[in-house]
Amino acid sequence: MEKNFKRTLVTCALPYANGPVHIGHLAGVYVPADIYVRYLRLRGREVLYVCGSDEHGVPITIKARQQGCSPQDIVDRYHNIINDSFKALGINFDIYGRTSSKVHEKNAAAFFRKLYDEGKFVTRESEQFYDPEAKTFLADRYIVGTCPKCGHEGAYGDQCEHCGSTLSPEELINPKSKLSGAEPVKKKTTHWYLPLQDYEQWLREWILEGHKEWRSNVYGQVKSWLDGGLQPRAVTRDLDWGVPVPVEGAEGKVLYVWFDAPIGYISNTMELLPDSWEKWWKSPDTRLVHFIGKDNIVFHCIVFPAMLKAYGDGFILPDNVPANEFLNLEGDKISTSRGWAVWAHEYVQDFPGKEDVLRYVLTANAPETKDNDFSWKEFQTRNNSELVAIFGNFVNRAIVLTHKYFSGLVPPVGELQDVDRQTLGEIPALKESLEKNIEGFRFREALKDAMSIARLGNKYISDSEPWKIAKTDLARTGTILNVCLQICADLAIAFEPFTPFACTRLKGMLNLDGAEWDSLGSQDILEEGHRLAEPELLFEKIDDAAIQKQLDRLDAIRAQKEAEAKAEAARKVAPAKEECSFEDFEKMDIRTATVLEAERVPKTDKLLKLTIDTGLDKRVIVSGIAEYYSPEEMVGKQICILANLKPRVIRGIESKGMILMAKQGDGSMRFITPQECVVNGAQIG
Ligand code: MF3
Ligand code: ZN
Repeated sequence: MEKNFKRTLVTCALPYANGPVHIGHLAGVYVPADIYVRYLRLRGREVLYVCGSDEHGVPITIKARQQGCSPQDIVDRYHNIINDSFKALGINFDIYGRTSSKVHEKNAAAFFRKLYDEGKFVTRESEQFYDPEAKTFLADRYIVGTCPKCGHEGAYGDQCEHCGSTLSPEELINPKSKLSGAEPVKKKTTHWYLPLQDYEQWLREWILEGHKEWRSNVYGQVKSWLDGGLQPRAVTRDLDWGVPVPVEGAEGKVLYVWFDAPIGYISNTMELLPDSWEKWWKSPDTRLVHFIGKDNIVFHCIVFPAMLKAYGDGFILPDNVPANEFLNLEGDKISTSRGWAVWAHEYVQDFPGKEDVLRYVLTANAPETKDNDFSWKEFQTRNNSELVAIFGNFVNRAIVLTHKYFSGLVPPVGELQDVDRQTLGEIPALKESLEKNIEGFRFREALKDAMSIARLGNKYISDSEPWKIAKTDLARTGTILNVCLQICADLAIAFEPFTPFACTRLKGMLNLDGAEWDSLGSQDILEEGHRLAEPELLFEKIDDAAIQKQLDRLDAIRAQKEAEAKAEAARKVAPAKEECSFEDFEKMDIRTATVLEAERVPKTDKLLKLTIDTGLDKRVIVSGIAEYYSPEEMVGKQICILANLKPRVIRGIESKGMILMAKQGDGSMRFITPQECVVNGAQIG
């Protein structure tokens, strides 16, 4: 922080209220923001922490249609689920508002109106897809058809979820409206655009010159957008869900969700502080920090700042935008539609009392500089061998021993030995590093610093063995435990941003309220004679069964996805073959036959040896159908064969002819049989 700001306004990306939040959201945005806010508060800084639901946009209308309810029903449901899960995880915003609120509707409309009145927009007429039956314009998501890249039939007008390609509706083969099934037609429509190119030079100076300290992923994305040249961006849409465009003649139009949502940060502040919100948004003494995921960078670094710049009136701009990369789950991209996620509201139900563990693991493994992976095994290991075995174990030993030898009173610190001084002497540097790392948005590193304090304590108590020394030298035991207890108090402070629930419990055990950040490392947080409360376990082991339950759930999702992929492959039809003449066809001697005996060909997975009655003779055919039929299933079945195929020796067996099979796109096969039983040797043609 070069400038001396008086206060900090922290915003978190407003989650879409069309589904619950998952660990990707938590790791990317909400856990780091919460660490930051808790840290600033511990340091006595003035902070406002703002978030809320993003309740507009096309996906919400689609979900409502699918579920046969209104968009408002959808956002009401998810707003509450999301809000509750944040609270359960200790993420306590000063306000968690919503963009369907009256305050926001009014504010967003007024924001648009001022820019409109001042001529900050341009209008453009364009041709958009229109559903002639439903009589409405169609968002790209409302157009489905066949993907030109992979042939998937349910591709959307903006994206194929099967192959991941970005599409435009024009590219879809056989496009259909999702509303009526009608073929969409093009129709003219007029929209308002913010001419971003007019702000390009200013953005270059502000960010590329002025904010070289931003994370390289953020800076790099901004630079490549600017280098690619900015275009006017539509800020309105033809849709019936959203903030109505407050201009006459704009019926059926709403503000584009990415125009209204960031204004939601301001609206939510107004809702909380109707009289003093401006201090947070219009004072140069306020430092604005946006926590977001990497898919939000362009909106928070280019579009929203350009909107604020166009608006003027003293609005401040973000001083930093620490965007994270993505978190994967067990090696696969998190996907809301496929259910490939760990949901926050389910986690807090499945692991009650273990909110800190999730916060800890998501921070230790945060996708700060690159995409990262969450695995349940790693979750278990980090809990059992870090939180339990180091942090918890150290605290437990220190407090239990104090009760055992000193009736729960902090023993006097006698003369310090070298090892005591060395141990305590390491703490100020760790504290400083922790501060630098949090202030530089390097939360993984900051957590390592906090953990280093726990490791230090754990090693100290193990090496100095106060339980042995107690037999001979109680005064020395007291000194060691005093040192340990001071470190416990340090941990209660240092870990507060990361594992707040555990720190509350730890402070309870230490009978410590309101320890200040600055006392961390001071060696005298707990006075001699201070009474400790009863010890309780700070963290508990997570057993294999709890982890297996989660893995089983994910396996079931994977299996379902594979089954769907197979079914889709099976539907694929092989391309037509070249024309053949009647003479070619007539050469083939196709007949009915009955299977008399069947057995597997030894040492193969695919081959069956069938003895068949062709009406002409008994013969042997070796056929690659063992994956689809057992020998028992084949015996007695009437089949069709190509009888005059040149004999071939397969695995030492002479095979005379071939069974006719219907083969599907996934390779699976079923044999052909006459509708009714006929004699063997009946000719087919
Ligand atoms: N709802 C968006 C998302 O989940 C984020 C909106 S952030 C805001 O990607 F700034 F627009 F509010
Ligand atoms: Zn595709």
